[in-house]
Amino acid sequence: MNPHKLLPTLSSITTSDQWYTYYKTNAEFQLKIPWESGAEITKDEQNAIADSLAAWQLGETSDGLHLLTAGKNYAQRIKDPKYVDAIELFIKEEQRHGGDLGRFLDLAQIPRLQRNWGDTLFRKIRYAIPTMEMWTTPVIMVETLALVYYKAIKNATNSPVLKQLCQQILRDEVKHIRFQYERLAILHRNRPAWLRKLTYFIQYILYYVPVILVWIGHHRALRAGGHSFKSYWRDAWVKMNFAWERMKPERYQW
Ligand SMILES: [Fe+2]
Ligand SMILES: [Fe+2]
Repeated sequence: MNPHKLLPTLSSITTSDQWYTYYKTNAEFQLKIPWESGAEITKDEQNAIADSLAAWQLGETSDGLHLLTAGKNYAQRIKDPKYVDAIELFIKEEQRHGGDLGRFLDLAQIPRLQRNWGDTLFRKIRYAIPTMEMWTTPVIMVETLALVYYKAIKNATNSPVLKQLCQQILRDEVKHIRFQYERLAILHRNRPAWLRKLTYFIQYILYYVPVILVWIGHHRALRAGGHSFKSYWRDAWVKMNFAWERMKPERYQW
């Protein structure tokens, strides 16, 4: 069964049960990645994207323990135990991204990274205040940029394995973004209008940080994928605006 058909229409908030079923089904509904054909990446392609890809692979690799703890506390408070199950499968999906990207790096003999400034910073922000909102907000921003990034990587290579891998990750991340913006809609639902406006304003200002940092860290790969700074910037904001639009609680029937 196509997992994408399991989610409700966009005007309803997906229940944790529905997310759980979606993630479970999605795990079995994977694109076939032609690993047997080898990395098939040219020297030029590799020069442009190898460092960037290794850094991104590290970012996709996490044990998810902080998130799980925050998720458990939060689920207990809102009395939605199934949310923890959904989070667990979400973490598994991110680990699959990290695992598959790692497998590709090994196949192409690109050394894996143990540390990277972008990854360290992103972790520090997520771990600073272990609430669902403090976790979800930076994550939706980075996942939004992941859409721009993996699309560029897909364009930057002719490797069938890497192309298909990017396609699979893109497909998953679109749903991750929905998972996060619906959660933020739930979290913001009872917030007074003025405070919500302030929240959006703070998010707007904060978003400049990852947009600029991703360009600094990955511009070579992004350029290899066809982006100029201008087109990257535009794409990054268009995608985040899409998420902000859907983060508004008034969009949903409760
Ligand atoms: Fe991911
Ligand atoms: Fe994700």
